[in-house]
Amino acid sequence: MMVLYRALILGALTLTTMMRPCGGEDIVADHVGIYGADVYQSYGPSGQYTHEFDEDELFHVDLEKKETVWRLPEFSKFASFDPQRALINIAMSKYNLDIMIKYSNFTAATSEVPQVTVFPKSPVTLAQPNILICFVDNIFPPEINISWLVNGHSVTEGVSETSFLPKSDHSFSKMSYLTFIPSDDDIFDCKVEHWGLEEPLLKHWEPEIPTPLLELTETVVCALGLVMGLVGIVVGTILIIQGLRSGGASRHKRPCESHLEGAPPIYKREE
Ligand SMILES: *[C@@H]1O[C@H](CO)[C@@H](O)[C@H](O)[C@H]1NC(C)=O
Ligand SMILES: *[C@@H]1O[C@H](CO)[C@@H](O)[C@H](O)[C@H]1NC(C)=O
Repeated sequence: MMVLYRALILGALTLTTMMRPCGGEDIVADHVGIYGADVYQSYGPSGQYTHEFDEDELFHVDLEKKETVWRLPEFSKFASFDPQRALINIAMSKYNLDIMIKYSNFTAATSEVPQVTVFPKSPVTLAQPNILICFVDNIFPPEINISWLVNGHSVTEGVSETSFLPKSDHSFSKMSYLTFIPSDDDIFDCKVEHWGLEEPLLKHWEPEIPTPLLELTETVVCALGLVMGLVGIVVGTILIIQGLRSGGASRHKRPCESHLEGAPPIYKREE
């Protein structure tokens, strides 16, 4: 309960972005209020109520469905949270934000450029079901569309995403997941739309599956290397033995420098 009241007004920011490149004067002024872990924004119906413990999300409330969504489903067995409480807090945030917007004289803030990384959850093996993760970092304002393209076509099946995960610098990160079965000819793109980007960003990924032929070549190269190494050792040993045997016959000693101070170098010569 205390968490709700220790909520601090961290700032109210106005965002004036969305100068559409196609000429329309479609300016959207957006306002984001971040109160502790609870985020409200005046743009659209979105906003987020997150409950954190030790800087980790415990649950968030889906404001549209009015449902509590636990980060790990097991948590819901031990605790419950009435989504109504989140709605009340969000309403409070909205009220505070309206005051802050006026107080800030509708000051505009800039959208950040999100950073996108795509990687598989487990090492990729042909025909082994896997999960592709699109990790989007440095999101501000928390208004983003993350979607997936397989071979250039958008897919919605097997897709899920996290809520906005708050960061200490007031930006957010979010992850989108795509379940997939690696095959030789599928290519993937994580598509990100955000006001910080001039156009949708496509982050490409394709599986690197070692082909059997490549593996065979690698084995052959490795075996050849090993054989050549062994031959080298044998030949080297023979040469050393030969060298030692014939050593007594004609050996030249290299000039030997004296370490006596001031003394001239002494050269020895043997028959
Ligand atoms: C607030 O905005 C108005 C209109 O743009 C401007 O005239 C005024 O000087 C601004 N006030 C402050 C305190 O920035
Ligand atoms: C996300 O997609 C919706 C529907 O296509 C669009 O109206 C909205 O502007 C998009 N949001 C961003 C941040 O691009």
